[in-house]
Amino acid sequence: MNLCFIFCLISTSLVFTFVSAGSNVTYDSRSLIIDGQRKLLISAAIHYPRSVPAMWPGLVQTAKQGGVDVIETYVFWNGHELSPGNYYFGGRFDLVKFAKIVHEARMYLILRIGPFVAAEWNYGGVPVWLHYIPGTVFRTYNQPFMYHMEKFTAYIVNLMKQEKLFASQGGPIILSQIENEYGFYENYYKEDGKKYALWAAKMAVSQNTSVPWIMCQQWDAPDPVIDTCNSFYCDQFTPTSPNRPKIWTENWPGWFKTFGGRDPHRPVEDVAFSVARFFQKGGSVHNYYMYHGGTNFGRTAGGPFITTSYDYDAPIDEYGLPRLPKWGHLKELHKAIKLCEHLLLHGKSVNTSLGPSVEASVYTDSTGACAAFISNSDDKNDKTVEFRNASYHLPAWSVSILPDCKNVVFNTAKVSSPTNKVAMVPEKLQQSDKSQKTFKWDVLKENPGIWGEADFVKNGFVDHINTTKDTTDYLWHTTSILIGKNDEFLKKGSEPVLVIESKGHALHAFVNQKYQGTAYGNGSHSPFTFKNPISLKAGKNEIALLSLTVGLQTAGPFYEFVGAGVTSVKINGLNNKTIDLSSNAWTYKIGVQGEHQRLHLVDGLNNTKWTSTSEAPKGQALTWYKAIVDAPPGDEPVGLDMLYMGKGLAWLNGEEIGRYWPRLSEFKKEDCVEECDYRGKFNPDKCVTGCGEPTQRWYHVPRSWFKPSGNVLVFFEEKGGDPTKITFARRKVV
Ligand SMILES: *[C@@H]1O[C@H](CO)[C@@H](O)[C@H](O)[C@H]1NC(C)=O
Ligand SMILES: *[C@@H]1O[C@H](CO)[C@@H](O)[C@H](O)[C@H]1NC(C)=O
Ligand SMILES: *[C@@H]1O[C@H](CO)[C@@H](O)[C@H](O)[C@H]1NC(C)=O
Ligand SMILES: *[C@@H]1O[C@H](CO)[C@@H](O)[C@H](O)[C@H]1NC(C)=O
Ligand SMILES: *[C@@H]1O[C@H](CO)[C@@H](O)[C@H](O)[C@H]1NC(C)=O
Ligand SMILES: *[C@@H]1O[C@H](CO)[C@@H](O)[C@H](O)[C@H]1NC(C)=O
Ligand SMILES: *[C@@H]1O[C@H](CO)[C@@H](O)[C@H](O)[C@H]1NC(C)=O
Ligand SMILES: *[C@@H]1O[C@H](CO)[C@@H](O)[C@H](O)[C@H]1NC(C)=O
Repeated sequence: MNLCFIFCLISTSLVFTFVSAGSNVTYDSRSLIIDGQRKLLISAAIHYPRSVPAMWPGLVQTAKQGGVDVIETYVFWNGHELSPGNYYFGGRFDLVKFAKIVHEARMYLILRIGPFVAAEWNYGGVPVWLHYIPGTVFRTYNQPFMYHMEKFTAYIVNLMKQEKLFASQGGPIILSQIENEYGFYENYYKEDGKKYALWAAKMAVSQNTSVPWIMCQQWDAPDPVIDTCNSFYCDQFTPTSPNRPKIWTENWPGWFKTFGGRDPHRPVEDVAFSVARFFQKGGSVHNYYMYHGGTNFGRTAGGPFITTSYDYDAPIDEYGLPRLPKWGHLKELHKAIKLCEHLLLHGKSVNTSLGPSVEASVYTDSTGACAAFISNSDDKNDKTVEFRNASYHLPAWSVSILPDCKNVVFNTAKVSSPTNKVAMVPEKLQQSDKSQKTFKWDVLKENPGIWGEADFVKNGFVDHINTTKDTTDYLWHTTSILIGKNDEFLKKGSEPVLVIESKGHALHAFVNQKYQGTAYGNGSHSPFTFKNPISLKAGKNEIALLSLTVGLQTAGPFYEFVGAGVTSVKINGLNNKTIDLSSNAWTYKIGVQGEHQRLHLVDGLNNTKWTSTSEAPKGQALTWYKAIVDAPPGDEPVGLDMLYMGKGLAWLNGEEIGRYWPRLSEFKKEDCVEECDYRGKFNPDKCVTGCGEPTQRWYHVPRSWFKPSGNVLVFFEEKGGDPTKITFARRKVV
């Protein structure tokens, strides 16, 4: 008899007993009420498509061991509705499987359907095709948008109902969310915004999920929809309606990164301080955004310029390892808060000042039980205070938790959890064909410019995003210029300068098939100017520009209309004149040829044009590289070290690793910190590292994508790199 048979029998029967009881989820001003019981809930955001199914059970367990009760995830519309009515729920997008894993771990789930999510995710999660349905304006009182949004919301709700995933059906889902952070923008949309927000709330309620709905950062959410807080601190937050509980849907324990930016870190003492203050002030549902950030695989990263890594400095790191001491310290915090749960939810509270910046919140009940949170919000000075005839020392910017009003079981600034350091230990690529003496790469170089038939010719420029509709990052533009034999500058050997203006996001320029350079925007500022000397010859000169997007806009009023692409091309210094090529006839081609030939997919690998070589070309633009390799030894998580490559896309066995770009952080040394003072209000620029270093050097390749040998590793390098220096790296605790 096989082991799984026994194990699966036990686990299914456990799940069955757990499932069979449907739960009634309601709320009052203190908390959610599940089956008549008030609940204090610690929740952790883990986005299913930012890891892989093989990682989900481990991530959920690590959260559970960290003292977490609830998993929270967005639903990623553009990953699910690939074209109108064409739904996908496979692989990383298997939402039902994810929800069931949460359920099997006996945890709750908060389902943030959105379906607009922002989330540093491409286009804020809304499918790009929706922008091209005539008359559509996102997130407004607009018929096409409302129709498709309602249709998708209903689709998800019905799927969850069919799978019996709502708590009322015995499933894990205790809350669902509609819209996201609309309160930030409602005023931009004026009356239309208010009308839309109200419609969205009513539409959600009409879905009859029989669990409450929430709207994050939506201060006028109509009853029974609960408004919630997203911020670094939510102790001051009060829901609009007095009968709603205080729910914190996003406490940011770190921050995301952009290519060219720095590495933000939020000290755990400050995260713990914010959490403790929230519960001290009557909060009852708290969620970490993110608890595991994970990876923006493929082209799912939003933009412009959000990195493939979405580590977020979260309690579980991108690779799935607990980050210590962050994970451990928060686990201790959760334990301490839970010791006070009953009093926090049922007791009477009295707030007393124990001196400047020191506040005691004392919760008592009729049995004489007592729990206290004492906070010192002074961001510089430690304090010693008298409380109930005893003396307490409080480090600056900290909260002490006293579940019996006497003994401090936890102080947010005193970290006793062990600390770990992780290292990326390099592992040379091992080719699977052991009969080869030297490492062999298959190489295929693309020619710059139009391949195959042109898509169209137009005088002047188009909007990049309107043209590619985000089916690819790439859009070729080509034109030519005739130079007479007697032109002055040819004789004098002076170099004309190619000047290109673009709305974003990046561009590689080629003249007469030669790579001339790259330019790009920075941060979320996407416009840029390319300015490089070029050499022209007598006769016809070809100019080929590869315009690129690096993730689409994720939020903001009318964000879907933000464009990208070339707006002007000039050549300065041609016989002391400037030639404007902007209104030339430009020939366009969407995408690069290798994408079209599906070189990255396993079915495209037998393309006969690959050349096998042990001398892989270095510094060569527009080059595809392929190697057949073994999995790195051991079972640690794996990253790819792309430090010596330029910019491009990577795949393993046809799975999309994502955009790589070891672009250096544009900040100077003094823009970073050596030591971080946890005290005082945090902001993402406060505790940054990595100035002058590549923002992202390593790219996560999930273990489950590997087989022991014969793994097909493919790169498309846009501007030139050294593939012989690519290695795997095992992420090890040292
Ligand atoms: C759920 O609980 C509320 C109050 O807590 C109660 O009014 C309601 O009848 C309950 N519903 C069900 C289906 O048990
Ligand atoms: C929700 O319930 C109401 C009242 O029973 C009903 O009219 C409506 O059609 C239901 N909506 C859905 C989506 O089932
Ligand atoms: C103490 O503060 C919390 C949060 O601000 C509040 O809900 C509670 O009513 C306060 N208690 C008293 C007695 O003022
Ligand atoms: C503190 O001490 C005073 C005087 O001894 C006493 O009356 C009071 O009950 C004590 N309070 C507590 C909370 O123990
Ligand atoms: C980013 O680009 C803007 C506009 O080109 C420029 O003003 C700014 O200095 C750049 N910032 C950095 C850090 O390079
Ligand atoms: C894209 O095209 C639409 C119409 O198809 C137009 O309304 C919009 O302004 C264009 N966007 C840009 C950035 O040019
Ligand atoms: C370009 O300008 C330089 C200096 O201003 C001058 O010496 C040269 O003759 C000019 N060339 C042409 C072709 O006008
Ligand atoms: C590719 O070629 C190999 C060797 O000729 C063959 O075994 C394999 O089936 C082919 N794969 C595909 C996807 O066509």
